[in-house]
Amino acid sequence: MNIKTDPIGFFDSGVGGLSVMREAISIMPNENFIYFGDSKNAPYGTKKVSEVRDLTIDAVEFLLSKNVKAVVIACNTATSAAIEEIRSKYKQISIIGIEPALKPAVKLNRKGQIIIMATPMTLREKKFKLLMDKYKNEANIISLPCAGLVEFIEQGIVEGEDLEYYLKEKFKGYLDNDISSIVLGCTHYPFIKKALSNVIGKEIPLIDGGFGTAQELKRKLIESGLLNDSKEKGNIEICNSINDDKVIDFCYSLINFKI
Ligand code: DGL
Repeated sequence: MNIKTDPIGFFDSGVGGLSVMREAISIMPNENFIYFGDSKNAPYGTKKVSEVRDLTIDAVEFLLSKNVKAVVIACNTATSAAIEEIRSKYKQISIIGIEPALKPAVKLNRKGQIIIMATPMTLREKKFKLLMDKYKNEANIISLPCAGLVEFIEQGIVEGEDLEYYLKEKFKGYLDNDISSIVLGCTHYPFIKKALSNVIGKEIPLIDGGFGTAQELKRKLIESGLLNDSKEKGNIEICNSINDDKVIDFCYSLINFKI
């Protein structure tokens, strides 16, 4: 039996899902949270789908062993590879996934191309194709697979010359066109917003799905009567498959990181 004071479980291939969990903490500070990052196996976006599916199931099992009342797959890649299977396997609990926030980008209705940055797997899978089908007639949308970008953030690099060089190379063919907005379709990317704005221009909106996912989580908890009504500040526990103090400290710093 799940109870209101049980923690909410968050999972990502590494540290990226903290960009989603921090939004959930800000709207539900009295909830208890447990985060599992699989940094040992990151990045997921260039692996085989079956491998990501297995790793995601293991992670969900780990979170369930911690008595979580809901699970957030705070990883676009793992969501696209495994959400259907996870939802049918664990019917007893709310499972919330994440996908690139294309809808708010289309709604902005700015002139030019919407560029979706994500991992190669996210952009290749069926879930993304369905999303594209929904909006492709309403806007000019470009997919930009960013293999190699997650590795910077996993190493703690969120700004600096090397990162900006990577981004400049990625955006080479696009900087001369009008860019309407950028969709950050990987939960690691909100942490590099500053470097990205330096490269593409500060006026271009950067859109991520963290806040929307946190709101969806809150809705689900209310719906299932599991919202914690305690008035006290909740606990935050962070676990990582690299059980090293440096990694864990970096994770805690990302919760308060000024994006
Ligand atoms: N944060 C993951 C996502 O949202 C990164 C995937 C990876 O490890 O490549 O897609």
